[in-house]
Amino acid sequence: MHARARVAAARLAAEQVLELLLEVELPDPSPGQFVMLWVPRVGEVPMSVADYEGGVLRLFITRRGVVTGYIHENARPGLALFVRGPYGRGFTMPRGGRVLLVGGGTGTAPLYFLAKRAGLSSAGCTAAVGFKSSRHVILVDELRKYCDVRVATDDGSLGHHGPVHELAAALLSGERYDRVYACGPEQMIVEVLRLLEGREEALEASLERYMRCAVGVCGSCVLDPLGLRVCRDGPVFSGAVLRRLHDLGRWWREPDGRKRPLAPQATG
Ligand SMILES: Cc1cc2nc3c(=O)[nH]c(=O)nc-3n(C[C@H](O)[C@H](O)[C@H](O)COP(=O)(O)OP(=O)(O)OC[C@H]3O[C@@H](n4cnc5c(N)ncnc54)[C@H](O)[C@@H]3O)c2cc1C
Ligand code: FES
Repeated sequence: MHARARVAAARLAAEQVLELLLEVELPDPSPGQFVMLWVPRVGEVPMSVADYEGGVLRLFITRRGVVTGYIHENARPGLALFVRGPYGRGFTMPRGGRVLLVGGGTGTAPLYFLAKRAGLSSAGCTAAVGFKSSRHVILVDELRKYCDVRVATDDGSLGHHGPVHELAAALLSGERYDRVYACGPEQMIVEVLRLLEGREEALEASLERYMRCAVGVCGSCVLDPLGLRVCRDGPVFSGAVLRRLHDLGRWWREPDGRKRPLAPQATG
């Protein structure tokens, strides 16, 4: 069942990234969960929750295709959209210990929500976040309230010049963390998984797949060989489960169910 949502604000937070504030009554989401955002006569897309407070849902939407393009062009205060959810299994909330967040592009959004809801502080949390360039950066200043933040950009225009997993590697070489949370392009998650091989840190990472029903019925988002559904068994999976997924970093399922090699994703 969709809830009616009213656009309270829409602004370009970074190049190709729209920050959308929606007034909508929803069951309280937990960090890592997602909603389905429906634009009548256009389509419906999954979006991670970046925040939900006082009945206002916050989303960061990268412009990609039909639906996200429409939202970028038409979202103005007062516009009516529709939301269902929240869906899926989110992150396990950290309870003390040292936490490392690794985010790429809009993958930073659910990690920000996690840091805020868990009340993390820079004494216990380090965040490594990567973007295409300084023009694509989102949420870094807000994340600094909760974490010691390190930034990487693909073009070197801000922070470390290179992929964000290189920053994570440097941090992991000097410190032991209790938990690592990752969200971003799938190749980034593969690299983080590799970095943690043989180490004790518990990893949780959020995956994306094409989604239709979002409630575990249609099979669009199934991962081989375990038959896990990203919408219902995820989108957050443990490192132990990720290591058993042949599809990870390799295969994507098209809307018609056929598999194709996963295209390299930009950091966003
Ligand atoms: C659990 C989950 C959380 C997500 N959270 C966010 C978020 O917070 N912010 C954000 O900007 N995006 C997020 N996405 C990705 C977002 O859903 C897609 O970018 C969107 O569905 C594309 O729709 P479209 O109609 O604009 O593009 P289409 O016209 O459908 O396709 C354009 C391109 O986008 C690709 N695409 C289609 N569906 C997806 C998908 N589900 N994931 C990735 N690429 C896709 C297509 O392969 C194609 O190359 C999330 C996806 C999932 C599964
Ligand atoms: S989207 Fe239908 S089973 Fe996941």
